[in-house]
Amino acid sequence: MTSTTDKDRVVIFDTTLRDGEQCPGATMNLDEKLAVAELLDTMGVDIIEAGFPIASNGDFEAVSEIAKRTKRATIAGLARAIPADIARAGEAVKHARRGRIHTFVSTSPIHLAHQMRKSEDEVVEIILKTVAQARDLVEDVEWSAMDATRTGIDYLCRCVEAAIRMGATTINLPDTVGYATPEEYRSMFRQVRERVPNADKAIFSTHCHNDIGLAVANSLAGVEGGARQIECTVNGIGERAGNAALEEVVMALRTRGDVMPYDTGIDSTMLTRASKLVSHATNFPVQYNKAIVGRNAFAHESGIHQDGMLKNANTYEIMTPASVGLTKTSLVMGKHSGRAAFRSKLTELGLSLSDNQLQDVFERFKDLADRKKHVYDEDIEALVDENLATAHD
Ligand code: KIV
Ligand code: ZN
Repeated sequence: MTSTTDKDRVVIFDTTLRDGEQCPGATMNLDEKLAVAELLDTMGVDIIEAGFPIASNGDFEAVSEIAKRTKRATIAGLARAIPADIARAGEAVKHARRGRIHTFVSTSPIHLAHQMRKSEDEVVEIILKTVAQARDLVEDVEWSAMDATRTGIDYLCRCVEAAIRMGATTINLPDTVGYATPEEYRSMFRQVRERVPNADKAIFSTHCHNDIGLAVANSLAGVEGGARQIECTVNGIGERAGNAALEEVVMALRTRGDVMPYDTGIDSTMLTRASKLVSHATNFPVQYNKAIVGRNAFAHESGIHQDGMLKNANTYEIMTPASVGLTKTSLVMGKHSGRAAFRSKLTELGLSLSDNQLQDVFERFKDLADRKKHVYDEDIEALVDENLATAHD
């Protein structure tokens, strides 16, 4: 076991308002973005990527309003490696207590050949110029190697060295297309940090997409490889299959601190609120079985599990509902529920029955649960009323 004081700090960079908002249909208006940013700041997010200022006037306004209002977090604006983008991002974050320009360029052969149509040398020239331009505007500059995980390691190291030399303070190595495995991602960070001579002058960052469902696992592997910033979004929203989910990253580090001794500054009791707010603002439902914040994440229906939970919650829960901001575990009444959970539900509803009555109502409840998807408290009360009425006939 590792005590809290032995833990390294991992910085949480939330990109719900940028990469998250980039997923089809998740657009938020200014008021919604302000509300999300305020909550992220209150819950302890270190860096809020508030938008892509060159993308539209609305994005520019959102980044600059959030920059003006945010009390604690650093506010980042995204910029391509284009002078006009960088100038616009610098303008948008200039009123922040702490402002960051996050500039990126593709580094993989496939992007260089088909998207950028530039040579490796030309891209290095672009990195030198654009990072220097960003550093003239702000002290805090993040540089990202887009499609890093499909970039040859030698060329990746060359680009990272150039970005740090020109003053980048954070180096992000994204798995842009969600292609890497945890072992590959961990190893990429290790190699780059070992081979780039000025690597210790920057903080390394993960940015993982979830195309094959590995975004959170890869982010944690990146931290094992030496990254100390994780880029993520609330509810994991983002391009295509989304980004690493903030609530999963935070609770994985908290719950398994014994094997991953890293701390975030996040108040985890606000995770449920953040999830609901983002779901509401984007109109994106949260899948029922979503880890940490899905409505079934702390719900138990099977009789064996419910019985265990009534005896000791540690039998089937590895985190407390309170730790993510829920009031309690829910024992859902359904056809898999057992007698112990049923009796406990009756007590909760203030109903007391003799053993014979309980047996009769429990049998009727099982019949009903076979026919109905959801058995509500009102259904159980009606069964009890029916039982009492027949007893009096
Ligand atoms: O996925 C990605 O590569 C990005 C960059 C802009 C950091 O979102
Ligand atoms: Zn991304």
